[in-house]
Amino acid sequence: MGKVGFGLAVTCAVASCAIAAILVSRRVKSRRKWNRMVGVLGEFEEGCSTSIGRLRQVVDAMDVEMHAGLASEGGSKLKMLLTFIDNLPNGNEKGNYYVLDLGGTNFRILRLQLGDERSMILRHDVEQPIPPAFMTSTSEDLFDFIASSLEQFVEREANSSDLPLVKRRELGFTFSFPVKQTSVSSGILIKWTKGFSIEDMVGKDVAECLQQAMIKRGLDMRVAALVNDTVGTLALGHYHDEDTVAAVIIGTGTNACYVERTDAIIKCQGLLTNSGGMVVNMEWGNFWSSHLPRTSYDVDLDTDSPNPNDQARGFEKMISGMYLGDIVRRVILSMSHELDILGMLLLVIGTLYLENLCGPVVNYRIWKLDDPYELHSSASLFHRKWRTPLMAVMHEDDSPDLREVARILKDTLKIPDVPLKVRKLIVKVCDVVTRRAARLAAAGIVGILKKIGRDGSSGIMSGRTKNGGESSGKMRRTVVAIEGGLYVRYSMFREYLNEAVAEILGEEIAPHVILRVSEDGSGIGAALLAASHSSPSVDSVSLP
Ligand code: BGC
Repeated sequence: MGKVGFGLAVTCAVASCAIAAILVSRRVKSRRKWNRMVGVLGEFEEGCSTSIGRLRQVVDAMDVEMHAGLASEGGSKLKMLLTFIDNLPNGNEKGNYYVLDLGGTNFRILRLQLGDERSMILRHDVEQPIPPAFMTSTSEDLFDFIASSLEQFVEREANSSDLPLVKRRELGFTFSFPVKQTSVSSGILIKWTKGFSIEDMVGKDVAECLQQAMIKRGLDMRVAALVNDTVGTLALGHYHDEDTVAAVIIGTGTNACYVERTDAIIKCQGLLTNSGGMVVNMEWGNFWSSHLPRTSYDVDLDTDSPNPNDQARGFEKMISGMYLGDIVRRVILSMSHELDILGMLLLVIGTLYLENLCGPVVNYRIWKLDDPYELHSSASLFHRKWRTPLMAVMHEDDSPDLREVARILKDTLKIPDVPLKVRKLIVKVCDVVTRRAARLAAAGIVGILKKIGRDGSSGIMSGRTKNGGESSGKMRRTVVAIEGGLYVRYSMFREYLNEAVAEILGEEIAPHVILRVSEDGSGIGAALLAASHSSPSVDSVSLP
């Protein structure tokens, strides 16, 4: 080899080494970035820890707050609102009833024919999105729109020959926002949730607003029952199974109600009911405890939310469909800062609607991934019909190569070729967020059971028998009715929740507690309550 050849060989060797060194250093750098990103996820997962110990603390805190909310007005973040419902449907309700169900993404009108012994026929049913403008305008606009839809519904019915004519139309009105009831059929709106914001409505009697709008349209209808969706769900649950003592909604918002003894409602001394009990609407979305596993993402979400306050609706912001997608977005964004490829990917995602990723789980538009959600435009997104959220589909993709995740990223978000390892991380983020939400809701449910002595903590023989006597040694069967898209249509969520309830209660007590889906409870239950509160001839059953 001549001098030139030798020089060339040396140069090549040096160049190869340099290239190799660059490649190695790039790899090391990208591995470090990847590790940092995985670290962000690990830290988030740790922050979301819902160990059994922590869940028990949440159970206890829920129990304590329930006592405090019953003891005095404003005594707790839990409002523990009276419903004036002191008896629940038992199967003897009869007649034709109308229902107006308002409170989430859509609004529904139903007509039901209640027959003998738990037979019911849904005669007619319409569901439609609420035009976004009406969610933030005036109460007059909203109720005019509702009354005109009702009028069209009644007209269509009048033309339908197979429906029996109804002389006086009794209406169950499901209104799923915090309301201070003044009777079974009237109540004042305390505040809006779930992106609704019609300021002039706060402090007004909700049933009266509807009644006026109906009169204006010449509609001969009367609000016989004004109910929260949890209360409707409890009513339907009880109609089918008399051991039902509580109901929970986990959908766009979250809440629970249960049957309380009147003597335990200390803030209303002297409250007397025939049954000795009353359904209490907890408004648990507002529950707060220092034991809740709160991360910096939750704090940021709260700050950017329409109702920012350290703890306002703290429970709801960790559990309900309105917020879960946004937590996922925030975590992925934070991870993306650590990895260029994901960062690029997410910039593209960010310019799309994240709601495409999560469906109505995120009910507001996100123009850029960096932007906090813009809630002034939130209303425009409520009109979307609930469909199985894509977040749930991605989470539940069990194909080895996460085919569904890739498909959704490609078809819906127009991002092809996302590497498998990145797809896996996205699924993991969904899992952490969903698992925490489901387990916290489970702790909330056990908190209610504890409050009413059905969690077995005072011994398996605790709890009164049906006729009020002492238990004969057998743990009483307890049913909790559940409704809401997250629980009903997101099977991973449901599994996590069911599993956690069983874990907290333990194997001796868990078999006595049944969580039962009460689909359509918010609507049908309102018809049942309208029936049991409009005709004195209808029998009622004593509350357990
Ligand atoms: C409302 C509750 C309602 C729940 C579920 C919450 O945002 O405040 O009244 O029951 O959503 O719809």
